[in-house]
Amino acid sequence: MAKVVVTGKIPAGGLARLKAEHDVLAWESDEAISRTELLQMVSGADAIVSLLTEKIDGELLTASGPQLKSVSNVAVGYNNIDVPACEERGVLVTNTPGVLTEATADIAMALILMSTRRLGEGERVIRAQDPWQWGMFYMLGMGLQGRQLGIVGMGQIGIATARRAKAFGMNIAYTRRSPLEVDVAKDLDAKFMSMDELIESSDVLSLHCPYSPATHHLISENQLARMKPTAYLINTARGPIVDEQALVDALKAGQIAGVGLDVFEHEPKVNPGLLELDNAVLIPHLGSATVETRAAMADIAATNALAILAGKTAPNLVTS
Ligand code: GLV
Repeated sequence: MAKVVVTGKIPAGGLARLKAEHDVLAWESDEAISRTELLQMVSGADAIVSLLTEKIDGELLTASGPQLKSVSNVAVGYNNIDVPACEERGVLVTNTPGVLTEATADIAMALILMSTRRLGEGERVIRAQDPWQWGMFYMLGMGLQGRQLGIVGMGQIGIATARRAKAFGMNIAYTRRSPLEVDVAKDLDAKFMSMDELIESSDVLSLHCPYSPATHHLISENQLARMKPTAYLINTARGPIVDEQALVDALKAGQIAGVGLDVFEHEPKVNPGLLELDNAVLIPHLGSATVETRAAMADIAATNALAILAGKTAPNLVTS
C-alpha cells in the first residue's frame, strides 16, 4: 500500500477508489489547508492528489521526500504546479482535461450574456429595491447576433464556447499557436487571426489559454487600449492572464464596454476597483462547478494516481 495524500475535499467516488487500494491521508475541512499543515501532511507521500489552490513547488516536493512518484491535479489548469521541479525529481504530473470542457464553456457563455445584457447590474437594482420601470432606453445592452466573438486559445474549452456563441448568431474568430484542423474551423466557420487583429476587431474577447509565464498579463494596458470601446472582455481561464489594475483603469476610462470575470489575478482577492464598477460581472471561479463535473474530475485524478502507483501509463500526463 502506498501513501496517497489528498490536499483538499474531493467528491466521494474518486476518494473511495483511492482508499480501496491505498493508505489515504485526506484533508477533510472545508477550509483550504494552510501551507504549514500541507508541508507536514505530504511528508512520506508516494502520490499527491492536489487542488488548484495548493502550490506544488520545490519546497513541497522536498518536504514530501524522494519516494514521491506523482502529483495529480484535480483541475485542467496546472499552473499551481512547478512542472520543471517535478520533472527534475522524476515526479509525474497529471491533470483532468475533457471532463470540464462543457461546464466551463457554459460559464463563459453565461458571462458573455450577463455582461452584454447587463444582468448583474439589473439584478442589483431589483435586490436593492431601487425604483425602476420599463423604459425604451432603460438599461440597454449589446445584442450578440452578427457580432464577432474572438477566442484567445482555441483548445477544447475555446471550441465549446465558440459552438455556443455560434448558436447565438455570433461570428467566430480565434487565435492559437497554429490554425485549427480544417473540418473544425469549417464547422464553426471560424476565422484564424493574429492576436493583434483579434483584439482590434472583436466585439467580445474571451480568454481560454493556459496560464504560464508566456501568457502573464497577455491582456494589459496596451491590448485594452486597442480593443473597441464597445467591446467586452471575458475571462474563464486564469486571473493573471489579465493585468487587473490595467483592466480597472481601462473600464474607468471607458476604453472597453464591460468585463465578465470568473477568475482573478490574486484569487480569492478581487481588485477593489472592480467592485465599484457596474459594468464588471464578477463570479467566484465557478467554471467547473457542477456536481457531475467535479465528480468526473475526482474520478480522473484517481485514475491517474492509481495508474502511476501501479506502474502503468497515466492517461493524462503533462510531464514526459
Ligand atoms: C479550473 O479552473 C481548472 O483548471 O480545472
